[in-house]
Amino acid sequence: MGLFSLEPLLPQLLSFPGLALAAALLLLVLCLRAGRTRRPGEPPLIKGWLPYLGEALKLQKDPLGFMKTLQKQHGDTFTVLLGGKYITFILDPSQYQLVMKSPKLSFRIFTNKLLRKVFSIEKLATNDDLNNDLHGCYHLLQGTSLDILTENMMQNLKQVFELQLLKTTNWDTAYLLTFCSSVIFEVTFTTIYGQSLPGNRKKFITELRDDFLKFDDKFPYLISDIPIELLGNVKSIRKKLIKRLTSEHLARTQGWSEVVQMRQDILEKYYTLEDFEIGAHHLGFLWASVTNTIPTTFWAMYYLLQHPEAMAVLRDEIDHFLQSTGQKKGSGFPIQLTREQLDSLVYLESTVLEVLRLCSFSSIMRFVQEDLTLQSETQDYCLRKGDLVAIFPPAIHYDPEIFEAPELELMNIKDWKLIHPGSSLNTTSEVHHLHAN
Ligand code: HEM
Repeated sequence: MGLFSLEPLLPQLLSFPGLALAAALLLLVLCLRAGRTRRPGEPPLIKGWLPYLGEALKLQKDPLGFMKTLQKQHGDTFTVLLGGKYITFILDPSQYQLVMKSPKLSFRIFTNKLLRKVFSIEKLATNDDLNNDLHGCYHLLQGTSLDILTENMMQNLKQVFELQLLKTTNWDTAYLLTFCSSVIFEVTFTTIYGQSLPGNRKKFITELRDDFLKFDDKFPYLISDIPIELLGNVKSIRKKLIKRLTSEHLARTQGWSEVVQMRQDILEKYYTLEDFEIGAHHLGFLWASVTNTIPTTFWAMYYLLQHPEAMAVLRDEIDHFLQSTGQKKGSGFPIQLTREQLDSLVYLESTVLEVLRLCSFSSIMRFVQEDLTLQSETQDYCLRKGDLVAIFPPAIHYDPEIFEAPELELMNIKDWKLIHPGSSLNTTSEVHHLHAN
């Protein structure tokens, strides 16, 4: 799951028509790259035996198991060739801060490359002012702006959830994912971008969601070096999505959030109003807003349905909250919830954190801007310009030294902070802090 998950870059490549040729061309380029050898001071280098792909297939098969094996063999820091990219993994949590704080390890360059490749946003790579102005908007995902977003989200959730619930008749696991995707996509879009004008509301959101999910499905290929032209119809789907998010089309939605309004104002400063790339920026933001929440919701529902005792603890907490705030429960009664009240629901928060611990295989990625030495108390490592560095938190998610009961699977939801005092993730609010960096 996740924004920068290390899911397969290429493994199912050959299932696409015409990709065999691309693979052959790539293999040619890779043989040139495969000649890399480890220089003195650099972390152990693992290239695998497949040129270009390196160890991508093994990582895809079992990300955590593979990382653990490499850790046993090579220690907490090593460089792996994955789909043409050399990625240095940092598994020792005491070194996370080194990576997060190093000015030579850039999140922006990494995301700008990604935004260019995946969303066809060109200008960010060359225009620092646009970059800075857009980053200046992220405070609108925090504080009082987050309070407003949370309250609007609750109202939208109630409406969308009940309608979807009435429509859903099949509760197999596969449909649970469809259910969660539909609800989260619509609620998030409506909260951030508002509602389209009455008349074609349902059609608009259904088409947007269906195209978005098709596009997102191809994400692992989009971030690889495979030309988009070889990825079936994903280029035309992207074009359709971007078109629906251009200034002209977005003007037909009402109730933009503060963050979208500010982003649009900034974009209009740097582009002409009609510029297609404005839509591409909105697509990137929309993607960031749902790519983690859809799988998190799915896994939370999946585990809760499997553990009725955990579900009972949550129900109790919510019933108690409704009672204490004089609210009625059941269909037709909207639940009012402020962010402060949401934060007070410790079992709900523990559930989300537990789900992130169990199911998230995301990494935090940085681009190495120039050759540098990462200095830590235990060992110094030389990193090469142009490589990537990844923090991989899932490696500690099952560590008994950090998590008192790492096998715990929502069987016994207690206050997360009490059971996992050493965890690096201590409240869901900290997820928001990431966005401020
Ligand atoms: C389960 C929920 C979420 C998780 C686990 C999550 C996690 C993350 C992570 C790990 C990053 C990268 C941070 C870094 O490398 O320093 C990130 C970036 C980002 N997230 Fe989230 N996120 C979540 C929900 C959201 C939501 C709801 C939104 C929008 C409303 C959002 C918007 C963004 C944006 C815009 C960025 C890029 C920030 C930048 O360019 O500096 N995320 N998120």
